[in-house]
Amino acid sequence: MNLELTGKRVLVTGGSKGIGLAIVRAFVAEGASVTTVSRTSTPELEATGATFVAADLAEPDGPRRAVETVLAADPRLDVLVNNAGGGIMSDGSFTDPLDGSDDDWIGTFALNLNAAVRTTRAALPALLKARGAVVSISSDSALRPGAAPLPYATAKAALNAFSRGLAEKVGAQGVRVNVVTPSGTRTAIMEGKDGFVAQLAAHLDMDHAALVAAMPGQGGMLTGALIEPDEIARVVLLLASPTMPSAIGANWLVDAGAMKTV
Ligand SMILES: NC(=O)c1ccc[n+]([C@@H]2O[C@H](COP(=O)([O-])OP(=O)(O)OC[C@H]3O[C@@H](n4cnc5c(N)ncnc54)[C@H](OP(=O)(O)O)[C@@H]3O)[C@@H](O)[C@H]2O)c1
Repeated sequence: MNLELTGKRVLVTGGSKGIGLAIVRAFVAEGASVTTVSRTSTPELEATGATFVAADLAEPDGPRRAVETVLAADPRLDVLVNNAGGGIMSDGSFTDPLDGSDDDWIGTFALNLNAAVRTTRAALPALLKARGAVVSISSDSALRPGAAPLPYATAKAALNAFSRGLAEKVGAQGVRVNVVTPSGTRTAIMEGKDGFVAQLAAHLDMDHAALVAAMPGQGGMLTGALIEPDEIARVVLLLASPTMPSAIGANWLVDAGAMKTV
């Protein structure tokens, strides 16, 4: 299938590892010109040949400055993928009924919502010129908020609302805005020794590997296995492709059937 992404200029946030790295690799394989922004680079990212821009997107001015750097190198931009997200919980969050202090909520919203809004705001003039596409990576936590830390689930739900509303505002001008919703995916969030699930395992006094192994089943994923980041990347490519002009305002679940509602 020709997705007509060859030569497109693509910006992916959080492409140094995990789902973002898989998205970078997938666009590079399609012949796109890819830049990614995160706080640090990795050997795996360097091996892709993508351009790297260092920035903390949770800082209020981080997204604007990062996008300015990207557009200074080439003012054209066809695709923005808002992928950077996640985060860890602070001490005490696990025993707080609101899953964290005011600072925890502010920090989680800064990365999982504000970074995407600010990056999109900075990139929108170029995307309008290119009649391009925005794809944001949400989470199944947004659709079942009781099963995840509340600040994260709430920020992702807001990201869904932002994306659907923006799709309405810019769709007629040729910019398509869509969301991809993964369930448990095999990345550092799940398997990293400093990731969220390692933190959760320590809180529950459980073996980390045993908790990771149990998560797909407990989460209702019908494959019984974590999703591979490449699978999320394939959906991102399709939604970003100009061969999908009617994919506007969609929220595409890649969740192994975890969502039980119709
Ligand atoms: N894995 C899952 O099970 C799962 C499920 C549903 C949704 N998601 C969502 O999928 C997206 C990717 O998650 P992942 O699992 O691939 O996470 P990951 O492996 O932890 O990767 C996160 C990426 O975001 C970057 N990042 C984090 N904080 C940043 C900051 N302040 N400024 C700039 N970049 C930052 C990281 O690079 P640096 O650390 O170098 O900055 C890294 O490149 C997130 O939005 C997450 O919420 C994941």
